[in-house]
Amino acid sequence: MAKQEDVFKKIVSHAKEYGFVFPSSEIYDGLGAVYDYGQNGVEMKNNIKRYWWEAMTLLHENIVGIDSAIFMHPTIWKASGHVDAFNDPLVDNRDSKKRYRADVLIEDEIAKIEEKINKEVEKAAKRFGESFDEAMFRQTNPRVLENAKKRDELHQRFSDAMNANDLKELRQIIEDYGIVDPISGTKNWTDVRQFNLMFKTEMGSSADSTMNVYLRPETAQGIFVNFLNVQKTGRMRIPFGIAQIGKAFRNEIVARQFIFRMREFEQMEMQFFVRPGEELEWFKTWKEFRLKWHKALGMGDEKYRYHDHEKLAHYANAATDIEFKMPFGFKEVEGIHSRTDFDLSQHEKFSKKKIQYFDPELNKSYTPYVIETSIGVDRMFLSVLCSSYEEQALEGGDTRVVLHLPKALAPVKCAILPLVKKDGLPEKAHEIMNLLKFDFACRYDEKDSVGKRYRRMDAIGTPYCITVDGQTLEDNTVTIRDRETMEQQRVSIEELHAIISKECSLNSLLKKLV
Ligand code: GAP
Repeated sequence: MAKQEDVFKKIVSHAKEYGFVFPSSEIYDGLGAVYDYGQNGVEMKNNIKRYWWEAMTLLHENIVGIDSAIFMHPTIWKASGHVDAFNDPLVDNRDSKKRYRADVLIEDEIAKIEEKINKEVEKAAKRFGESFDEAMFRQTNPRVLENAKKRDELHQRFSDAMNANDLKELRQIIEDYGIVDPISGTKNWTDVRQFNLMFKTEMGSSADSTMNVYLRPETAQGIFVNFLNVQKTGRMRIPFGIAQIGKAFRNEIVARQFIFRMREFEQMEMQFFVRPGEELEWFKTWKEFRLKWHKALGMGDEKYRYHDHEKLAHYANAATDIEFKMPFGFKEVEGIHSRTDFDLSQHEKFSKKKIQYFDPELNKSYTPYVIETSIGVDRMFLSVLCSSYEEQALEGGDTRVVLHLPKALAPVKCAILPLVKKDGLPEKAHEIMNLLKFDFACRYDEKDSVGKRYRRMDAIGTPYCITVDGQTLEDNTVTIRDRETMEQQRVSIEELHAIISKECSLNSLLKKLV
């Protein structure tokens, strides 16, 4: 098994062991691709949401927030295209009785070929040492060239089939490339069929009045249908944006990679309404701002990349993903889309209500164009967790597991630890906690040796441990231990607030964005 897969498994069990993420309904053996956030997870998730919300609304005078309902009129999903086109191609294996996404099976096959190429390159790099010219090797080695050709041909066939919505061809590719079920190992596949990802339920109490409604698959439509409400009541002038954080639901066929692909998840979306013709300039602005937001967390600039879409949805005229380097490769965390006037026009058509904006400067009405930024809270959470996890070897053969979380996102900012459970130290520790708890998430812990308590705090990424000892009672000083260096410094109690605030406050993070 690849090393990165091992690391990922450890991250998943660490998340459970330390109260970040639990499988949902665990005592009933769980529910596929649904997860609960624990006592530390919810704090970190709330910090991520606050960072996004404040960066979007406080730092932009022309962006306001809303909180729209999960249930919406079913015609909204007809207008948005989700009823007809929000589908995944699925295929069943008759032997394992398991269901797969046909596109994912093919993507995995492409990844396998890519892996073969990379292994070949790694082997050669070891063999040739310092003199190895990777670019030259990739251009000339016959085995690499053969696999690269196979990969490109498969990729081309696959994207043509996806773009043409050609389910027969997807089935044929699975056949031609001999793709087998990872469980049964057989090629006994059914035809490929379309599967709508929306969850449907019924609203109403009597048989006559029930209506089929959907659990929203994205929060964005709640923004579009409130465009006029917000614009008029907020006296908003274009360009302006509406932000929203909320739950979304998708009946994902293949739920994989922990909280990366869930059936119930949370999105942070912002629709920015602009004049037609100005959208591509705004697309560029938002693309840059959103990457800056990610990078300000200090997890490493090299872990991000843009993936600009070549093939665009029929209503979009530009789209990019911000991808993050997860242990299982670069993966989409956020999408930025220039959606033209598609959504507002569709709602105008289906609702038969005029949805236009009168621009006083141009003295004319038009349907605004939209730039959307859409990020999954859970994927963001996963990227933070993965990039922070380290099993660190210490001097003297000891080890520790530490989460190098961006300090402003850490669930607990400081632990307050009386050295012993007596001699007035717990009382003094509580006094300090009472000074700090209004501004920072603090945790009091008096159980076990102080060394063990430090380790527990490292494992949940607590930036500072404050230890109260005999000297504290004499001169009002404590030791403050830094998570990264593990070094302790003696400081007076009055200094604590400023030290923690400087490093851990959301404000210092937000200031990097302006
Ligand atoms: N309104 C546009 C929209 O929903 P999307 O690319 O389908 O676009 C946006 O989703 C973001 O939502 C993704 O970049 C991802 O972070 C998150 N997301 C989508 N499906 C998800 C799932 N099944 N589980 C977790 N997060 C998901």
